[in-house]
Amino acid sequence: KKVSIIGVPMDLGQNRRGVDMGPSAIRYAGVLEKLESIDLEVEDMGDIQIDMPERVHSDPAHNLRNLKAIEQANTRLAQLVDQVVQEGHFPLVLGGDHSIAIGTLAGVSRHYEDLGVIWFDAHGDLNTADTSPSGNIHGMPLASSMGVGHPALTGLGGYGPKVKPENLVIIGARALDQGEKELIRQKGLRVYTMHEIDRMGMAAVMREAIDYLKERTDGVHLSLDLDGVDPTDAPGVGTPVMGGISYRESHLAMEMLAESGIVVSAEFVEINPILDEKNRTAKVAVALMGSLLGDQLK
Ligand code: ARG
Ligand code: MN
Ligand code: MN
Ligand code: MN
Repeated sequence: KKVSIIGVPMDLGQNRRGVDMGPSAIRYAGVLEKLESIDLEVEDMGDIQIDMPERVHSDPAHNLRNLKAIEQANTRLAQLVDQVVQEGHFPLVLGGDHSIAIGTLAGVSRHYEDLGVIWFDAHGDLNTADTSPSGNIHGMPLASSMGVGHPALTGLGGYGPKVKPENLVIIGARALDQGEKELIRQKGLRVYTMHEIDRMGMAAVMREAIDYLKERTDGVHLSLDLDGVDPTDAPGVGTPVMGGISYRESHLAMEMLAESGIVVSAEFVEINPILDEKNRTAKVAVALMGSLLGDQLK
């Protein structure tokens, strides 16, 4: 299967500028070379255009910073991802902040009855304007995709919800806001926090998550926030949280996903080269992409 790379230089979902340079950092870290070295056919579709917030209406009273610009960019992304899936290619989306998952999922999900999602992240990204402590939309994409939140986000692409709560698995959570915990309880979401990863080990967590999703979904999207990885291995992120998933555990998770054959699309987000050390975090991302796409099976 051909891999179609889409860059999304988006930094409007949070406060720290710089995460818009993520796609360049990942390309510079050698994503094309890596994927070609494992005999994949790859096309780089370049970056989608992001409008400057100054040029679009944004209403700060909403507690939804840059809502209009984020809506526009995600609408564009959704169309492109939709087209890539329709052509039978594997979309590999390079962020940008995590607000772009709203667009990726809008593009992928219309092709599946029962799309599964693995949300690899230190955070839940389950806030809404009502619960968000920051007003940053990168803390809201999972709630939005589940149909909870502002209609501009939940209805993006002209339909929603994109994912049923029971088709969702969160891995690596360790910084959940109160409102997010309530939504997790209310919807009965399957969350493997760092506690479960410590207790069960990553292999058992992934075994369980894969078995669970395999029997109830017809394809799985991997949304990987680099802040899920421990900051000692992935320092180039805007919202680092101590005590994360190790480099080895992350690779194991990707390798088990590759073996399972359930993943149909992926995005790697939140890399901020300004905060990084010699592009380490982008290099980690590229290595993980290699594992996800079958590096060890070759
Ligand atoms: N929960 C916090 C918020 O809503 C942090 C979200 C961080 N999200 C991320 N994609 N890094 O602002
Ligand atoms: Mn083609
Ligand atoms: Mn995060
Ligand atoms: Mn996130």
